[in-house]
Amino acid sequence: MNESASEGPKRRPRYRGKNPRAFHEKYKEHRPDQYAADVAKVIAGGKTPAGTHRPIMVREIMDALSPKPGEIAVDCTLGYGGHARELLAAVQPGGRLIGIDADPIELPKTEVRLRSLGFPPESLVVKRANFAGLHRFLATEAPEGADMVLADLGLSSMQIDNPTRGFTFKEDGPLDMRMNPLKGLPASEFLSTLNHASLARILSENADEPFADAIALAILRSHQTTPLKTTKALADVVRSLCGRIPGGESAVEDTIRRVFQAIRIAVNDEFGAIDALMRAIPDCLKPGGRVAILTFHSGEDRRVKSALKDGYTSGIYSNIAQEVVRASFEERRSNPRSISAKLRYATRQ
Ligand SMILES: C[S@@+](CC[C@H](N)C(=O)[O-])C[C@H]1O[C@@H](n2cnc3c(N)ncnc32)[C@H](O)[C@@H]1O
Repeated sequence: MNESASEGPKRRPRYRGKNPRAFHEKYKEHRPDQYAADVAKVIAGGKTPAGTHRPIMVREIMDALSPKPGEIAVDCTLGYGGHARELLAAVQPGGRLIGIDADPIELPKTEVRLRSLGFPPESLVVKRANFAGLHRFLATEAPEGADMVLADLGLSSMQIDNPTRGFTFKEDGPLDMRMNPLKGLPASEFLSTLNHASLARILSENADEPFADAIALAILRSHQTTPLKTTKALADVVRSLCGRIPGGESAVEDTIRRVFQAIRIAVNDEFGAIDALMRAIPDCLKPGGRVAILTFHSGEDRRVKSALKDGYTSGIYSNIAQEVVRASFEERRSNPRSISAKLRYATRQ
């Protein structure tokens, strides 16, 4: 019988070799509920299954936020919902989790996953929004203030790994890089708005890129000749400079990673959003409320550290983390994405 007939057995997607390599080919990883054993093997190998995200420093965050039944928790970066599900469970009975994310593609899937856990429907509020506007949203949703606020900054693994989002240089895709593809300019068009000095500043300030000048020049020259519309095209421009980047192949890869990070931060105005969030948090917390922020690179951490320190000095916070908290050795070994994570926390006066 013809396998393509509708009642015929389903074939796995075709891919070369024994194991799927491309994001869209990893059909088992995209369905962890159906292929739990295969997904567990991927995790045991220190990888994040495609289409999912492994929450980082869950225990440390729960210790810092200390959620209790009946409380209101705000997760500003819902992502896959890993931290959110822990917080949602911990504030039961009677509590609420308010979850925000800018991403209109992943958010509906995360809401379905969280609602399927069976908590009372009114205990979960999900909103697609930029956390820069947290105070406006909370003014209607929780005018009495929140007991805790969490932000786990940056991108989720689903966003990074999916080549159609344009964040990765590991597979080719459109040069987009927007967390919310319904708003703003994709990276390919954003590049057309920049001159050499502004792109060099973005590379230097957003990713501490040591070769910012030369890379900015090469990117804009190439873009002016043939617009860079794909992630491969952008990565190839950086690769074309490899003779001038000391350190061999791995140094070139690191440079490409920094270039992608810097442009993505600018496309999404990530630093502007973090500054707005840090200004808003004190007004969003009840007295005694807790805040925990997870950062992944120095540009994020500098902002969070100075906002919490300034708040402590001026008496807004009664208690802040004296030292930054890092992922445990076990977590860093089992999930390399936790290696750069830094947790900072504080308590509202
Ligand atoms: C590292 S992931 C969060 C993962 C999540 N804690 C979990 O356990 O699955 C970061 C998320 O924050 C979202 N995000 C980043 N900046 C944002 C902003 N300014 N406003 C709203 N969401 C944002 C991203 O879309 C992404 O889904």
